Amino acid sequence: MDHSGVEAYFDGRAAGYGQLDWHTGYAERLVALAGLASGMRVLDAATGTGLAALAAARVVGPPGEVVGVDISAGMLQEADHLLAASGLANVTYVKADVTTLDEFEDESFDAVLCCAGMLYLSAGPALSAWHRVLRPSGLLGFSAMRAGFPVAARVFRECAASFGLALPDPMAEVGTEKSSREAVSRAGFVFERAVPGVIALPPRNAADLWRGHALSPNYPELASLTSAELAALESSYVARVSEVLSEPGTFDLPVMYVYARKP
Ligand SMILES: C[S@@+](CC[C@H](N)C(=O)[O-])C[C@H]1O[C@@H](n2cnc3c(N)ncnc32)[C@H](O)[C@@H]1O
Repeated sequence: MDHSGVEAYFDGRAAGYGQLDWHTGYAERLVALAGLASGMRVLDAATGTGLAALAAARVVGPPGEVVGVDISAGMLQEADHLLAASGLANVTYVKADVTTLDEFEDESFDAVLCCAGMLYLSAGPALSAWHRVLRPSGLLGFSAMRAGFPVAARVFRECAASFGLALPDPMAEVGTEKSSREAVSRAGFVFERAVPGVIALPPRNAADLWRGHALSPNYPELASLTSAELAALESSYVARVSEVLSEPGTFDLPVMYVYARKP
């Protein structure tokens, strides 16, 4: 698969990403629920600026090790800065594709974590790669937004449909307990639990939300619209999303923390 769109998108988002409180809280919750132990070797898939990697490194301690893997050089550069500031010495970062992990040996990790990455990954190949690098009885933990959320993205896809664009929900593969249970089982894991949670997203205005969707690597179909159609979609979206922005709960993001084990 060509990941250049994802890479460029995150290179552009990297500055300041690791300072956003909600990202940090989301990653720390995934790690806290995972039950890691001192001495474990952990792979943090789609590590970004390394928020989950740093949290995991504190738990596994100096006898343990965390390897953060990401496709975006920009995100990894930010990760290096945050790592230097953390004082931790048991984290390394590798630029690689987490849906293949060709650089890593079979059964070489005790745990694989992935926070906020499933939105951008093809679940089947990713879960297979993670299964391969985990040792038997190794732990998998990932976070997933509930399918149909955030509300502003659902409104965007509904607007796009009225312009003839059928944009799939990027969380269709693992965005419910049932679908995540089925996806991990297909990849050879034994599903353990899906812990519900809610993330309070920072409120954004309609124009900012539009920019986020228009630039997102999740919607390459937008490129098929003419500039006039795109402008009309923007007007329609800004009008419709503005109606929901003041409704309570618009920026509450229901998520799950999913855990499974390699037999
Ligand atoms: C929303 S960020 C999450 C970053 C971090 N885990 C966190 O919790 O803040 C998603 C990350 O997935 C990475 N990513 C997307 N597709 C990838 C792939 N195929 N291989 C490696 N990293 C990928 C992006 O570069 C980006 O850094």
